[in-house]
Amino acid sequence: MDEDVAGRRYVCNCGSTRRRVHSSVAHGHVVRLAITRIDSAAFLGRVGLDRISASGTANVGYWVRTGQTGQGVATAAVLLIARFGFEDLGLQRLELLVAADNLASRRVAEKVGATFEGVLPAGPHGQGELEHTSYCFSLDR
Ligand SMILES: CC(C)(COP(=O)(O)OP(=O)(O)OC[C@H]1O[C@@H](n2cnc3c(N)ncnc32)[C@H](O)[C@@H]1OP(=O)(O)O)[C@@H](O)C(=O)NCCC(=O)NCCS
Repeated sequence: MDEDVAGRRYVCNCGSTRRRVHSSVAHGHVVRLAITRIDSAAFLGRVGLDRISASGTANVGYWVRTGQTGQGVATAAVLLIARFGFEDLGLQRLELLVAADNLASRRVAEKVGATFEGVLPAGPHGQGELEHTSYCFSLDR
């Protein structure tokens, strides 16, 4: 996967074959990809899909190394993995859950064109509960 975003090209390296990614998904595993520029192996961060469901939904996660932020890296990576999820994995809907006070991440969700769906309250921090009040955004195929 690669994409030219504002004159910079990024690639999400699977580090494995597409078949292996499909196999992982079939076994209910998450997809975790490293983000690099297309012309450099330098590690910029990670992007991934988790909570992949049989009904065709998944959650998108991402982070970018300190020192590499503010250059559109996360935005490019989320666009790439969304395309991968929709076109290669056949997913129908992706969700981005962003802590309410994470303004940079909220901005990433907006920049990829995700729809704001609502605010989810923090839970009692048990399994499956949100640690922070979060904003839910979605991307549809
Ligand atoms: C959130 C994160 C992924 C953003 O990565 P990034 O590569 O810098 O993102 P981008 O450059 O694509 O876009 C960031 C946008 O947020 C904006 N931004 C950054 N800090 C901001 C702040 N404090 N308030 C408002 N906007 C902010 C940037 O200006 C940019 O928007 P712009 O292009 O309109 O100027 C990165 O900061 C990170 O890894 N944070 C820690 C992990 C994390 O929060 N992951 C997301 C979990 S949901």
